[in-house]
Amino acid sequence: MLILGIESSCDETGVALVQAQARGVPRLVGATLHSQVAMHRDYGGVVPELASRDHIRRVLPLTEAVLAQAAVPVQAIDAVAYTRGPGLAGALLVGAGVAAAMAMALGVPALPVHHLEGHLLSPFLSADPPEFPFVALLVSGGHTQLMRVDGVGRYQLLGETIDDAAGEAFDKSAKVLGLGYPGGPALSRLAQSGDPQAFALPRPLLHSGDLDFSFAGLKTAVLTQARKLGPALEARKADLAAATEAAIVDVLVHKSLAALRATGLQRLVVAGGVGANQRLRQRLGEAAARHGWRLHYPEVALCTDNGAMIALAAAMRWQAGLAPLAPADGAFDVAPRWPLEAVTVVGTDH
Ligand code: KG4
Ligand code: ZN
Repeated sequence: MLILGIESSCDETGVALVQAQARGVPRLVGATLHSQVAMHRDYGGVVPELASRDHIRRVLPLTEAVLAQAAVPVQAIDAVAYTRGPGLAGALLVGAGVAAAMAMALGVPALPVHHLEGHLLSPFLSADPPEFPFVALLVSGGHTQLMRVDGVGRYQLLGETIDDAAGEAFDKSAKVLGLGYPGGPALSRLAQSGDPQAFALPRPLLHSGDLDFSFAGLKTAVLTQARKLGPALEARKADLAAATEAAIVDVLVHKSLAALRATGLQRLVVAGGVGANQRLRQRLGEAAARHGWRLHYPEVALCTDNGAMIALAAAMRWQAGLAPLAPADGAFDVAPRWPLEAVTVVGTDH
């Protein structure tokens, strides 16, 4: 089964091909990506209308490129997977529309995929794929969730952010520090030359006893600190960046450990853009070595949004014998707000 995957939920157009047999981990046979980051930079964030228009420009050339890369004719495609949600409605419609049209022209199914299920399963394409069950820490620009994952489609929400996502906390704090967009990677780079203990920033909900997160207050604390520093901020920027990163990472690590303790599981999968953060990786790595549990990440290129994880999620749902999440017969829709629980087809039995 050769599955083409199309991702267009936000500011990356990703197209990839995944080959799946009835059993075994599916194999990535080609992937292309266009990031719109440079286009949105002038505006300090993603402009939805510009994002949609750019997806339209990119999606077909990227599809042609991925077919050429894999050296397969378009007729070899057995199904076309696309991100149905969550994401920006107009951006999602581009991928969904193209997928539905291609599927209809080829006489193959169009398979809607949940964006977060893609992130969650993306480490299966790595050189060291996980085994079920595991705890997943999903940390992206729009989401911060801890899930118990017992199998494909078997997800249980353990905790999530009650306000901003971790990536949003990085991005908003970076904006305060004048680091441009997207701020996460820039803040993290600057933090390397700063002292994480230079400022005492809050660790919201650290000892709340549950597995929820809250990051909105952190951005305010960074803003307050920056104002207090005034003209001195310039010289202390790296310190404030390091303290911000340390606060976010502390909370993510603490709650991930609590989730492993609460479930008794021995594996942690980290997915989503913030999973690329080096301090987070280092701190989790130390904890894993100390406690003897396993840690899995997607390949670096698959941490942020991409088409491979969408094709993979469709492939793994097919392997698991799960019905497509789809309106059939050429109809398509998108789901800008779509909880992951909606694609949980079997309850967890623990
Ligand atoms: O998963 P993703 O590509 O897009 C979605 O939000 O779905 O995640 C993007 C987020 C952004 O907030 C970005 O700032 C953050 O991931 N990010 C990072 C790093 N790389 C990306 N945050 C901290 N450190 C990084 N190295
Ligand atoms: Zn994402």
